[in-house]
Parts: sequence; C-alpha cells; structure tokens
Amino acid sequence: MAKISFYSVDDHSNQAVELFKKQLPEHSIHPWPLINCKPEELDYAICWQPPENFFDGATNLKSVLSMAAGVDHLLQHPGLPAKVPLIRLCDAGMGQKIAEYVHFGVLRAHRNFDLYRTQQDRREWRAQPDIDAGNYHVGVMGFGVIGQVVANHLYSAGYHVSAWKRSPVTESYPFEIFTRDRKAFLDNLDVLVCVLPLTDETRNMIDADLLSALPAGAHFINVGRGSQVVESDLLHALDKNHLRSALLDVCVEEPLPADHKLWMHPNVILTPHVAGPTQLQLSVDQIVQSIQAIESGKAPELLAGAVNNTAGY
Ligand code: GLV
Repeated sequence: MAKISFYSVDDHSNQAVELFKKQLPEHSIHPWPLINCKPEELDYAICWQPPENFFDGATNLKSVLSMAAGVDHLLQHPGLPAKVPLIRLCDAGMGQKIAEYVHFGVLRAHRNFDLYRTQQDRREWRAQPDIDAGNYHVGVMGFGVIGQVVANHLYSAGYHVSAWKRSPVTESYPFEIFTRDRKAFLDNLDVLVCVLPLTDETRNMIDADLLSALPAGAHFINVGRGSQVVESDLLHALDKNHLRSALLDVCVEEPLPADHKLWMHPNVILTPHVAGPTQLQLSVDQIVQSIQAIESGKAPELLAGAVNNTAGY
C-alpha cells in the first residue's frame, strides 16, 4: 500500500481527495497537513502550489505529481526533494478550455470588438475594415501539448496560424513552425499568443525588444505565466499604442495587487488565471494512471507528462 499526500490551493481539494480515495482504494490518501502519517512514509505527493513546508521530511518519495500542466510551482519550490521524478498533467481537458479562451481573444481583436466598444461610448456608427480570417495572422508561442491544441483550434477556425517552439519539430503540421528565429515568427503577426511554460529561458522573454518586433497595432494574449512578461514594457507598448490590446490571464504577482496599473489600463482585459481551469475528473484519472503505472514497475521517467527538470517543463 502506497501513502500519498495531497495539497491544492484550489477550492476543489475535498472533492479531489474523495476521488483519489475512490479510485485508489488500495492506497491511502493523506490531505496535507498530515495526520496519522509521517512524512518519511510517503511514496507520492500530489499538489498544486504547495506551501513552503509541504515536502519537509518527505525523504522517500517515488514521484511528485503536479495537479497542473505547469511545474514552475514545483521547480521553484525551495523544499522540493532533489532527484525525485516530477510528472505534470498532459492536457487533461485544459487544452480545449484554453483554446476557447484564446479564440475569444482572437475574435475580439479580429472582429474589432475593442474598437466598437469605444465607438459605442462616442455613439459612433461606423464599420471597421473587414478582414478574412485566412488573412488574419495569429502566432502561438509555445507549441507543447496545450499550444498544439490552441494552434490547431485556431487553424480549424480558419485563421492564418504559425507557431514558435524552442526545439525543432519532427511531425508535419498544416502551418509554419518557427524554432530559433523569433524575428521571422513575430513579423506580420496580428495577434501574439503566449502559451509558454515558465523556465529560466522564458522568464522575462516578452520584453520591450520582443514587443517592438511585433507590427504596430498587434494584440497580445497571455495564457502562459505572468513572469514571462516584463509588465512595465508591456504597459509602455500599450501606452504608446504600439500594442492595441492585451488579454491577460496571468500576472507576475497573483492576485494582481489592487494598485497595479494593469487593472486600470483601458486596453487590457484581465482574468484571474481561469483560462484553463483544472478538469477535476480528467486530472484525477491521469494522476491515478501514473501512480498505478509506477506501482506496477514502470519508470516514472517514461510516463507521459514526465518532466525534464533541466528544460523546466
Ligand atoms: C495552470 O496554470 C496549469 O499550469 O495547469
């Protein structure tokens, strides 16, 4: 029998614990803080944004399973035991949700809803130029599991899509994939969508330099992580109208402090990290499968969702 701790900042914790108990009846699930279980007895930890002392004493973990697609909350955790294999969620229903969110942002930009809203304030009845979706160019930065769902969704909706990925792709796609050449990717974009994981390489990647490589009047959508963006550079690009709008689901500091300028900016739409809410049953199913695979002898490193700690995702 394996012992498994569980912690999530989200308010679905009790429900998640019940599902894990039901689907892993041969193992024991221990909501954190632990009662009747010593940390050194734990075999697995399942978590999303665990507190600083979550891993204290957990010296015998076979694996840490992220209740999220991103693992920055684990790789930056000061107490994460060294060398324990990490496993993250692979889509688990989030891709479709994030694609819907991004689709809204792209439609809002493409069909000029931002301009019509300001025209409405002026009682101005005036049509904006009509552009076919096929001539509207959306660039998806980050082409992992979620980025691919987003790019395919937009492509199916008729948009001119291209994507940017850190490492070369081997499969073929019906749209162009850029790797290292950021400038060629950013050229001519109407909308830049960030779906990147947060790593040492992507932290502060969206800065004045990158934003200035976008055509004037482009829009920005961030469903990655706030810390990929230099927020003062983003505000500057918006203030001088180089960027027409930003739709942000993530910020450097969450919740965004009440006095932050992003709250007040007329060309910013903010949402509280809800683009891809955890799909509880699908997430539990995936984590249960991973634990069962490890218990039956499979190496955690070979599972879907195994994290490459050096790459950071
Ligand atoms: C949410 O942001 C996630 O990483 O799943």
